Amino acid sequence: MKVLIIGASGLVGSNLYQVFGQNNKDGINLGTHLSYSTNYSVYFDPLKEVPIEISKEKWDVIIHTGALTNVDQCETEQDLSYQLTVASTQMLLLLAKNNNSKFVYLSTDYVFDGENGPYAETDKVEPLNVYGKHKLESEEIVSTYPDHLILRITNVYGDEIRNKNFIARILDAVKQKDFVEIKAPVDQLATPVNAADVAKAIYLLVQDNKTGIYHLASTDYLSRVQLLQRINAYHANKVKIIPVKTASLNQAALRPLRGGLIAAKFASEYPDFIFSNVDDYLKKQ
Ligand SMILES: NC(=O)c1ccc[n+]([C@@H]2O[C@H](COP(=O)([O-])OP(=O)(O)OC[C@H]3O[C@@H](n4cnc5c(N)ncnc54)[C@H](OP(=O)(O)O)[C@@H]3O)[C@@H](O)[C@H]2O)c1
Repeated sequence: MKVLIIGASGLVGSNLYQVFGQNNKDGINLGTHLSYSTNYSVYFDPLKEVPIEISKEKWDVIIHTGALTNVDQCETEQDLSYQLTVASTQMLLLLAKNNNSKFVYLSTDYVFDGENGPYAETDKVEPLNVYGKHKLESEEIVSTYPDHLILRITNVYGDEIRNKNFIARILDAVKQKDFVEIKAPVDQLATPVNAADVAKAIYLLVQDNKTGIYHLASTDYLSRVQLLQRINAYHANKVKIIPVKTASLNQAALRPLRGGLIAAKFASEYPDFIFSNVDDYLKKQ
């Protein structure tokens, strides 16, 4: 199969690139980047000309992981958020139509209001902030295309080149310093998931030609404070945690508080698939 991974320089995209590379050996796996070039990806801005490396192939699957993922920046730079999240999706969907590709879209639990999480696929969507609204708008556009697959995820961690996810940043800090002090919200709950598991689950869904929406999550349901406590358990209590309420952080964007996702639908179709948890990851670091 010929698979185009948009955003292969990112956390989820780089893990997808690795998993498809390992499993789709007879096919073609091409990754793209936008601002951060890697030695395995080609530059591609979906709002500009399609490069020859992409236009010369007929893609069976296009996986779109790109978006403006800085939630507060989405709130303060709404036009940029629209371009990077919604407009890019529209353009990539055109590419999918021209190639007759399956279109796979990565979305978020921020499509929910966080009153009542964790959420199932059938729960009512009601985003609180621009990031969530633009991700939902993209989902809606993607849903009009018959061969689509939407994966909602949240609090993703794992191995990535830039180590920019929350857990990776803290691990880098505790390895370099005697102690680090971190203010963390005690009242935001979510279901952290390892990007490698997300990539493996997507590979299975694509291989089985599944369509529709799936939530991907482990059984962890943790606040940022609890996440830091887990890190402390493996790193000699080097993190001095200052628990705060989300409201006191005065962030530009509202956060869903009781967020997170329930992956029961995926589990019922893939009973042998085990999502690892944060402890499994921390033990190996
Ligand atoms: N990480 C999380 O906790 C989380 C939670 C919920 C949902 N998600 C969703 O999952 C997806 C992947 O997240 P991630 O954490 O892997 O993000 P990431 O590390 O920021 O990676 C995003 C990737 O997409 C590229 N990109 C960004 N905007 C693009 C655009 N308009 N067109 C083409 N490429 C673009 C980036 O390129 P450059 O870096 O080269 O510029 C990067 O390779 C996103 O759609 C995000 O909304 C993530």
